Amino acid sequence: MFRRTVLISFRFAERRYRSSAVAPSARDAYVAEEVQKFCTETPVERATTPPSSWFTDPAIYGLEKRTVFKWNWVAVGRTDQVASPGQYFTGVVGDEPFLVVRDKSNTLRGFFNVCRHHAAILAGEDEGTADAFTCCYHGWTYGLDGRLTKAMRLRGIQNFSARNFGLKPMAVKAWGPLVLVRPDGQEDGTDFETQVTSLKDQLDDLGFTSGLRFVERRRYRVNCNWKVVLDNYLDGGYHVEYLHRNLASNLSIDTYRTDVQELYSVQTCSGSAEDDQSMTRQRIGKTSIYGCVYPNLMINRYGPWLDTNIALPLTHDTTEVIYDYWLAEEFAQTLRGEAELQEFVQTSLTESDKVQQEDTFICERVQKGLRSSAYDVGRYAPRVEMADHAFHLKLASDLKQGIRTDKLTNGITVPCMF
Ligand code: FES
Ligand SMILES: [Fe+2]
Repeated sequence: MFRRTVLISFRFAERRYRSSAVAPSARDAYVAEEVQKFCTETPVERATTPPSSWFTDPAIYGLEKRTVFKWNWVAVGRTDQVASPGQYFTGVVGDEPFLVVRDKSNTLRGFFNVCRHHAAILAGEDEGTADAFTCCYHGWTYGLDGRLTKAMRLRGIQNFSARNFGLKPMAVKAWGPLVLVRPDGQEDGTDFETQVTSLKDQLDDLGFTSGLRFVERRRYRVNCNWKVVLDNYLDGGYHVEYLHRNLASNLSIDTYRTDVQELYSVQTCSGSAEDDQSMTRQRIGKTSIYGCVYPNLMINRYGPWLDTNIALPLTHDTTEVIYDYWLAEEFAQTLRGEAELQEFVQTSLTESDKVQQEDTFICERVQKGLRSSAYDVGRYAPRVEMADHAFHLKLASDLKQGIRTDKLTNGITVPCMF
């Protein structure tokens, strides 16, 4: 009987994992080994970057989904998308579909966008307005507060209470003009506000929480790992004079400064010294602030513009970057009429798009290089790429914590050197 049980279990296991090249325990040991290849003790002058597997391997991305995109506050949208009761927007963080909604009592709420009956995605639109959410599969209906309010044809069901079958809540918060969610449900585990106070103060001095009008959203799909996008953003302006020649001519690259904090980094740069009233100079202004909040939020405040870039991985090697643009109200009032405003907006968005196309081009080129056997690890320019290094350290801390957690829950034994 015992032998028979073992045999059945073995056959089951064999069938279950036949499609996978590596058995689960070996795969997890491999992930742990790759994570540990990035040595967090080595100073930036001697450090090597994380290995290419961090950017190319679905198993590493799997670990990120269980850690980085689970237990951090992840930027997902804007407060003006949920300004009034009934307004909502949806999306996906890692494997977790979310729904953010302003309920009837004006409370901002976050939920997993998953029907409690048989798991169908509940709200199908990217954004909209609703009185309630009705599942398109069998009609279960939920209030804006997440409660299950209608479920037909359940006569005879036992051990069931509608009270226990509301939408699963997801922690949500507004910060400045942005909305963030945290899928693990911890409201304030990282004390987010305290950690980003100084960044918010700097941004508020130029206009961040108020004084801006939302202009437009653009989405870019980039064929690279999400961290390639962040790495490109965090290189302290290293690439600007080579990749963005037009932009570089309007910036004083030698004024680039980087400040690294626990949860964010800020890069600042002055506009080119020439006093010119061209639209390009007006767009860029005198000071640019490029803030990056771990893990996926980039905030650019320059001239009269604020644009935020939210990087959301779609797979291990594809990323959606959502660009939202706001314009300072005060500046808009100085323009002479709607036609001049539209001209300024369109010229600015065209110039911004050019920079995005250049960044997309290089990120996809880097991803191709990362797949090559010729490349394993890179190096940092120590006085320039400090924010990149800090981003990798933070990432490593989450991934290592994730491995420890996996070891506890799955009983995996992995040689551990940290
Ligand atoms: S899956 Fe939603 S009602 Fe059945
Ligand atoms: Fe760039």
